[in-house]
Amino acid sequence: MTEAHWWQDAAVYQVYVRSFADSDGDGVGDLPGITARLPYLADLGVDAVWVTPFYRSPMADHGYDVADQCDVDPMFGTLADADRLVTAAHALGLRVIVDLVPNHSSDEHPWFQEALRDPSSRLRERYLFRKPGPDGGPPNNWESVFGGPAWSRDEASGEYYLHLFDRKQPDFDWRHPAVHEEWERILRFWLDRGVDGFRIDVAHGLYKQAALTDHPPSLESQDALFHASAAPHAWDQPEVVDVYRRWRQITDGYTDRVMVGEVFLSQLERVARFVGPDRLHQSFNFPLLAAPLDAQTWRRLITASLAAFEVDGAAPTWVLSNHDVIRHATRYGGGEQGRARARAATLTLLGLPGSPYLYQGEELGLEQDDVPGPARQDPIWLRSGGTVPGRDGARTPMPWTAQAPGHGFSSGTPWLPFGGQAAERSVAAQEGDPGSTLAFYRRALAQRRALRGGLDRTVTWLDGPPDVLAYARRHADGDALVCVLNTGEATTTFALPGATLLVSSDPAATASADALTLPAGTAMWVRAQV
Ligand code: NOJ
Repeated sequence: MTEAHWWQDAAVYQVYVRSFADSDGDGVGDLPGITARLPYLADLGVDAVWVTPFYRSPMADHGYDVADQCDVDPMFGTLADADRLVTAAHALGLRVIVDLVPNHSSDEHPWFQEALRDPSSRLRERYLFRKPGPDGGPPNNWESVFGGPAWSRDEASGEYYLHLFDRKQPDFDWRHPAVHEEWERILRFWLDRGVDGFRIDVAHGLYKQAALTDHPPSLESQDALFHASAAPHAWDQPEVVDVYRRWRQITDGYTDRVMVGEVFLSQLERVARFVGPDRLHQSFNFPLLAAPLDAQTWRRLITASLAAFEVDGAAPTWVLSNHDVIRHATRYGGGEQGRARARAATLTLLGLPGSPYLYQGEELGLEQDDVPGPARQDPIWLRSGGTVPGRDGARTPMPWTAQAPGHGFSSGTPWLPFGGQAAERSVAAQEGDPGSTLAFYRRALAQRRALRGGLDRTVTWLDGPPDVLAYARRHADGDALVCVLNTGEATTTFALPGATLLVSSDPAATASADALTLPAGTAMWVRAQV
């Protein structure tokens, strides 16, 4: 790395707007709600906030169906509220990353509305309308990520339009120049308003194979999390990277802005194509999120991630939870043990070079909620006729206080119900408790800040028992930061003379004069000579 940029090491906190803080009592979180809670995020010790889509939207996919990317949905506030959020964040030293959704729009976007109203409109060329297949059905066998066919019929013309997600999210045709021009305008609109960067939704999408041919049926239903592996013509086409080359030229015209792509591909070498000095600064790194918490697997994936992303003009990212997946405390077994393992996993990633992306509520040890069927709202649940649970369990509101029914989130009825964990794991219940998950996150993030300026970006693996992952990063003062994680089922010791404990995921993880002792599912940072 030649020059240090804030985003190369920023801890980024993802705010899922609908569920963070509701200022007006309608049960849905909003921008003024976030602004009021920014001091909490500054105290937590993160560097940036990624705010999920708050633009005009009919909310068929809760904001990822955008009708106007340059206006704020009244449910979330106004453009002036967005400006106030950015100003207030900057005053607290926090950066703001906003979400762009360039693969598709809402069917209520003015272009699509006009395309439907007038079948001879040239605006149809900005989407993917096609004649029916030979049997009168959809033009090809592509499936929506949310279930069912990826095509819906426009009754007026008899043609179908492509939507890789919900029928209310028609895909743009990125082979049309007007789509490029529009998105460059949108980019500049938000850059000029002072945002510090973009999270790019479905960044591996945008282009589809030009002929829109059938996918090989043999690939269907493979690897459910990484839908692209079963649909090679719909995602990750060679042309897409050129879009980000252009966007990088635009963002480079502003001071120190970042683009992070949601490149949802299972093969890191495919993801690596998206990042570099002339394309995206970062991509999410999902293979680790899909992997079990196992020392050998993690060592292999972290090594591969560093090789792919620790390159000039870019930086790695580390993600364990977001609004689309089961919360990691639950994935790691749930309950006391799952939450302990989640803290250990997080501490391990926080010590690596690059940007950890933290999802709201993980700092409280929140587990996935079991939202009752009638209350579920995810289009995945609705499109599957109530057979696939969907993502609502990761999206329940933030419990700020122990007081039901609103838990400090809302004075009204929350759009998704709180689960049973809300009171006990609320921010208020954990404030002032040094043994809480919240206190652990604060300690870890504070240590990270204190150390990072002096840390070398090279990660050196240290050998230990098979269930132990251990690495060191040299510090300018001569010592090293050593991180040790025990993913096994039994307590283990790790020989390391003269280590000083910095932070541990569990008070039972300790350092003596000769060795570290780590109970099952714990991690610790120490300073030592290695
Ligand atoms: C990825 C987003 O994270 C998800 O929530 C959304 O449903 C899809 N992209 C479609 O925009």
